[in-house]
Amino acid sequence: MREKRIFIKTFGCQMNEYDSERMLALVGEEYVPCEVPEEADLILVNTCSVRRKAEEKVYSFVGRFKSLKAKRPEVVIGVTGCVAQQEGERIVKRLPHVDLVLGPQNIYRLPEALEKIRRGRGPVVLTELKKDFKPPLIPATYDGARPVKAQVTIMQGCDNFCSYCVVPYVRGREVSRPPEDILREIECLVQQGVREVTLLGQNVNSYGQKEKGYPTFAELLRMVAQIKGLWRIRFTTSHPKDLSEDLMRTIAEEEKVCEHLHLPVQSGSSRVLARMNRGYTREEYLARVARLRELVPGIALTTDLIVGFPGETESDFQETLTLLEEVRFDEIFSFKYSDRPLARARKFEDKVPEEVKAARLWKVHEVQARITQEIRESYIGRKAEVLVEGPSETRPEVLTGRTRTNHVVNFTAPKELELKGALVYVLIKEAGKHSLRGEFLEILKGPGGGPDED
Ligand code: 5AD
Ligand code: SF4
Repeated sequence: MREKRIFIKTFGCQMNEYDSERMLALVGEEYVPCEVPEEADLILVNTCSVRRKAEEKVYSFVGRFKSLKAKRPEVVIGVTGCVAQQEGERIVKRLPHVDLVLGPQNIYRLPEALEKIRRGRGPVVLTELKKDFKPPLIPATYDGARPVKAQVTIMQGCDNFCSYCVVPYVRGREVSRPPEDILREIECLVQQGVREVTLLGQNVNSYGQKEKGYPTFAELLRMVAQIKGLWRIRFTTSHPKDLSEDLMRTIAEEEKVCEHLHLPVQSGSSRVLARMNRGYTREEYLARVARLRELVPGIALTTDLIVGFPGETESDFQETLTLLEEVRFDEIFSFKYSDRPLARARKFEDKVPEEVKAARLWKVHEVQARITQEIRESYIGRKAEVLVEGPSETRPEVLTGRTRTNHVVNFTAPKELELKGALVYVLIKEAGKHSLRGEFLEILKGPGGGPDED
């Protein structure tokens, strides 16, 4: 009998979302998820420390539970993820109402940690980072929610040490999961009704390189594509330096692999890229994009960008703007540089003033907003393949899903059709600020086709 309630708040990237699902599954026999922290017996805050702002949010969020803990001391409050790893014991010193601190590799020890706390042996701080860490196989349990899409971590950690980045220090060295674990986990998801899977890792395209006898990432994609009942495959994040010809060809050839690549460029200036330790130049990045577009015409590209990296001059920044115009990304995620503990660039002396960073970020937004809108408008009048995720959260009479190129589509369809989980064609009529809008045309596959249908 599950009597207790758990509330999880997840900050940061998709890897954290995945880890939160694992933690839910780990304590799933005892705890039922709840929507508000005030009703919970266990509160977990899964944190991100990739940028300074993200970390600050964590402290203010966890700080709010001080009065709750004073009223109900039996509530267990835990901080997990990257800030937990980075700060360790400092968290329980700064926030004494916290009972539990688990780094990303230690989230699997949640049941054992809870047991210790129950026996009065808290607070528990687990932040050990192992070089050869292998995450155990814990399929998510969706409590009958039947999601249409899901994510699967295929590797943990990062070996790249980009000079601005804290990830290698908080998530540890790169470790790939065994291919058979990954395949089993995806098969299990498909049996629960999942049709689209996103393979996750800090640097997915270097999957398997460090392990003997493992497939390459392109080979893994082809293995995943064999799974019956799975319709779509996505993956993120790819590093430009590891984008092989074989991977590009696999995207082109495997029908299930969607035509979208998230390929963080970070800067358009080769000089800045070298100081970032990215391992490619502007020209090399552009050459890979050109080759990719040759092999996969119409592929959507998205990217991450940092403005105001130490030493970034006005002319470096102009190169970032011209790169945006040349590549024409479908969407970008742009950030002002912030110093991170342990990351090498925090010691670079030529820091860019805050107001210059803000102005550059604004300019980047302005340029990209136009390009994104132009790309969205090019969909008008076209027929798009959409995997229907269900009713829109804000307008339940409207259905929502994504194109293969990862654009959100909201559309209307006859009420009597049960379209959640179906692959449909939608005629695109309008391009809004955040999504495309259209009308249902026809069903391509499903729903309810069962796991064997392909
Ligand atoms: N400052 C600003 N942005 C950063 N990112 C990573 N580290 C920093 C930092 N110190 C951005 C990068 C990365 C994304 C997840 O966050 O663009 O791709
Ligand atoms: Fe950070 Fe670079 Fe690794 Fe990405 S590739 S996680 S930016 S060190």
